Amino acid sequence: MRQHFLSLALLAALGAPLAAAEPTHTFTIGAQDFLLDGKPFVIRCGEIHFPRVPKEYWRHRLQLCKAMGLNTVCVYLFWNFHEWQEGQFDWSGQADVAEFCRLAQAEGLWVLLRPGPYSCAEWEMGGLPWWLLNRAGIKLRTRDPKFLEPAVRYLKEVGRVLAPLQVTRGGPLLMAQVENEYGSFGSDAEYMGALRQAMIDGGFDVPLFACNPAGALKRGLRSDLFQVVNFGKGGVAKSFEALRQVQATGPLMNGEYYPGWFDTWGSRHHTGDAQGIANDLQAMLEKRRSFSLYMAHGGTSFGLWAGADRPFKPDTSSYDYDAPISEAGWVTPKFTAIRNVFAQHLQPGESLPEPLPANPVITIAPTTLDETAPVLTNLGTAQQDRVPRHMEAYGQSRGCILYRTTVPAGEALRLNVGAVRDFGWVFLDGTPVGHLDRRSGRTVATLPARTAPARLEILVEAMGRVNFGQEVFDRKGLLGPVTLQAGTAAPTQPTGWEVMALPLDAPQLAGLRYGAGPATGPAFWRGSLNVAKPGDTFLDLRTWGKGVVWINGHCLGRFWNIGPTQTAYVPGPWLKAGANEVVVLDLQGPRTPVIAGLAQPILDEVHPELDALRPRRATGTPTFTGAPTATAAFTTTVAWQTVPFSAPAKGRYVALDLTSAHDGSTTAAIAEVELTGSDGAVLPSATWRILAVDSEDPQGREAENCLDGQPATCWQTIKGKEARGFPHHLILDLGATTTVGGLRYLPKAGDAQEAGRVKDARIFVSDQPFGLAADGK
Ligand code: GLA
Ligand code: CA
Repeated sequence: MRQHFLSLALLAALGAPLAAAEPTHTFTIGAQDFLLDGKPFVIRCGEIHFPRVPKEYWRHRLQLCKAMGLNTVCVYLFWNFHEWQEGQFDWSGQADVAEFCRLAQAEGLWVLLRPGPYSCAEWEMGGLPWWLLNRAGIKLRTRDPKFLEPAVRYLKEVGRVLAPLQVTRGGPLLMAQVENEYGSFGSDAEYMGALRQAMIDGGFDVPLFACNPAGALKRGLRSDLFQVVNFGKGGVAKSFEALRQVQATGPLMNGEYYPGWFDTWGSRHHTGDAQGIANDLQAMLEKRRSFSLYMAHGGTSFGLWAGADRPFKPDTSSYDYDAPISEAGWVTPKFTAIRNVFAQHLQPGESLPEPLPANPVITIAPTTLDETAPVLTNLGTAQQDRVPRHMEAYGQSRGCILYRTTVPAGEALRLNVGAVRDFGWVFLDGTPVGHLDRRSGRTVATLPARTAPARLEILVEAMGRVNFGQEVFDRKGLLGPVTLQAGTAAPTQPTGWEVMALPLDAPQLAGLRYGAGPATGPAFWRGSLNVAKPGDTFLDLRTWGKGVVWINGHCLGRFWNIGPTQTAYVPGPWLKAGANEVVVLDLQGPRTPVIAGLAQPILDEVHPELDALRPRRATGTPTFTGAPTATAAFTTTVAWQTVPFSAPAKGRYVALDLTSAHDGSTTAAIAEVELTGSDGAVLPSATWRILAVDSEDPQGREAENCLDGQPATCWQTIKGKEARGFPHHLILDLGATTTVGGLRYLPKAGDAQEAGRVKDARIFVSDQPFGLAADGK
């Protein structure tokens, strides 16, 4: 007894979880099946990210996962959520993953852990910490010690916190993933090996696995990591076939199956078809395949944690994802469809609990925010610098940053900031004179003539860092060089700048000096929302411009009137009866400064007319004259197809002139396009833009989807009444003259009969934009 007490006390002192008192299990990979305590086990998993669910609701969402029929949940860790400042780990409160795992276990769910160090997930920098960007010359996601050393240290810390929760020690953790879709990024198996070893050294003794889309499975492949394959609707048969090619035995598992998709600002809300998804799950269960629904419950990227897609498109804060469990934890028709499938495939002794009702929802009457604190008169201490540099160089992690200098009296000047990350507002003596926008590459503004020296201020807003591809190296602020040019004179670099951080954190908010009445220009707006009885609600932000919103100090996320999200989800536990302080930072200014709480979210209302600086397509019909650089005859196989050119071609523009589809329909669809250089290596696409495209399905199938690195997304021409027939065209602007040795094409995901599988195409490479106006800015 005494001994028992002592060991419990010891465990408590070590911070060991209660789960250690639970029976231990074995979980292994058999020739055909996963084996849990030696018995075949099918993993019916769904992804849920604890930082995206208010802690108060963790149990509620886990209970819903269980009621849908999942037996396992999959959780990413975002390294930067736990080590935002180098060397300072945080596993408390909303970051208490051990508690989340114990709650899952208490609800009868197993857990798959995906600790990174890179995670993707539409999360700020894919989970990598911003301070890595201050390490000169660092190569992210490689064996470069500048990256590997802190990554290994982090994984060992993960082991300290979570290894005690493995099934081998009485916890719920069945397996752990190493890296994330690494084959989409690199091919160094030794890098994967180094991370694998770090996890073993950290105390992980459950099976370790790696996930990839089918086309990337072979890159970075190691036989000492169990392989699983990621795909969306229609990908079941082909993807498992590809998986079998790299892994001859063992259970076949899907690592991410997409029942919906994430949203980016300026594009329509994505939805996934419930019946098609239910059919795929049915097909997988009939063959005893394991899978993980990405997402079972998406939740919200609260705070400033949302990432950005590429070509640069920041992600919305809502991460509803059209997942079966909605952002606010509601059961959807998709939930029911999936539950019905799962109910037919339960394992011996299993039963499905009834789903919980939704949490109470309230509305809040429209309220005017009548106090304001203008940004330009609420700046903190300045750092002096010779020329502007990126935000991280000043020790600032995120938020907004202001650069200030004095320009002498004289004629009008052309300001060019070199590169802006991500949006800029230019002021001369406090008067707005221009906008900067990373998406369309707008880096210039005109400063009017001045009779006296004037104060030049550039306010830059950093949105989330890109979370996918090479572009995760995403320094914020002005990258420069910042130049001024009078007429046709040579540009000069003004020196002597003041730089001020607006980190948008609690200390900054606490220091704001509010006055009564409205403001013009970028400002914080404050008011009080009166609530009788707290409940979930959705703040209506439709009359506001672009910025960030807080309630009672909780940052709900970003908003932007261009949509598609027009509301901000407020979890009931963050409200109180009586007065609730709401703060809105609006960088553009509201139409009317009024806020209400709605009973329903608005997730799909886009306003392109409010988005003056969005990237524009060149209009008109291109002319393709002369012999094409190459002709292609594509097959219906959903795999990369390469078209080598007979000789390398040089040009800034690459056109795909698509002349027919295999199914004889009017539709064309393409998942990915890549170009190779004269050496056959894939060319980096970070600076490419879509110059022109003849038709785009507005339901989130725009041409940028060909360049996002995601096999699951595609460009598709409009179907139905508004369809235009072949030929279709897609023209890329590579930004500079480039030597191109070939083209790679990945068909839209799905089966071979899918409409729009391209058959014949002509490829043109030219330094002329095929008769179109090249500058779409
Ligand atoms: C990939 C990643 C996920 C997520 C999805 C898109 O498959 O592995 O983290 O980013 O894409 O939602
Ligand atoms: Ca794609």
